[in-house]
Amino acid sequence: MSIRVHIDGAVRLPEEAKVSVFDRGFLYGDSVYETIGTAYGRLFAAKDHLDRLERSATRIGMRVPPRAEIERAIVDTVAAAGNPESRVRVILTRGEGKLDLDPATASDTRLVVMVFPLGAPSPEMFEKGVAVAVVSVARNSPRAIDPAVKSGNYLNNVLALGEARRRNHAYEAILCAADGTVAEGSTSNIFAVVGGEVRTPPADVGILDGITRAKVFDLCRENAIPLAERRFSPDELRAADETFITSATRGVLPVTVIDDRPIADGRPGPVTRKLMALYDALARRGVE
Ligand code: PDD
Repeated sequence: MSIRVHIDGAVRLPEEAKVSVFDRGFLYGDSVYETIGTAYGRLFAAKDHLDRLERSATRIGMRVPPRAEIERAIVDTVAAAGNPESRVRVILTRGEGKLDLDPATASDTRLVVMVFPLGAPSPEMFEKGVAVAVVSVARNSPRAIDPAVKSGNYLNNVLALGEARRRNHAYEAILCAADGTVAEGSTSNIFAVVGGEVRTPPADVGILDGITRAKVFDLCRENAIPLAERRFSPDELRAADETFITSATRGVLPVTVIDDRPIADGRPGPVTRKLMALYDALARRGVE
């Protein structure tokens, strides 16, 4: 189990991987990133993630290195780390500059690829489900830092997770949008199952359009599982028959406790289990 970092054109040991204190990622969170997981030893949905990385960078006016350069860095770093399953973090920062917010004063995009052991949730977490807590910290307004841009500026999410962990000893925080409806987790998308229908907040609530979320949409459609993108309140989430979260490193993970209270009978429900099995089968088949 090892960590390797591709930085300034070469794969290095973690202790040799350093950035300047003048890097704008460090100074301002002026960066974008992706987390890609491997499944059954292969990168899962890497193309979707790199498409989103390019969209994020373009949205904030950052130059994107050629796709082939990013792909090569990922492949080399995953191979050097040699883990059975990896978590790949691809970061683009706006480079270095003097202390000047103006993005035009930045040097050029810096590419960093970090590879870690995957660190998926434990089998027990998948079996029993995890606890979440609805926090008081609101999700960033799309008119401020748009959650659809996967930027390295994660203070919103850091504060949310801190609140959920300290106050409720919860695994994940659930943030609401300014209108009080449920938005997403600190590093995940949230779903509720009500009367057999899978529900999740629509993109215009102000969320990251998760790659795993999109795969769940495909699985619902292919398997005739009713699906609706619609807003719902924290109380509706608490009263759901089933709840689960999704992300690249977790896939579909059941949620069985919310704000210290069990959801329904406190066990992962049948629709969640079905989607977990379908997602696992998809991962086994592989997605480029
Ligand atoms: N996080 N919402 C937020 C705010 C996220 O940070 C993430 C992913 C998701 C789920 O997106 P996806 O299915 O594409 O992973 C939703 C990754 C795992 C991370 O921060 O490392």
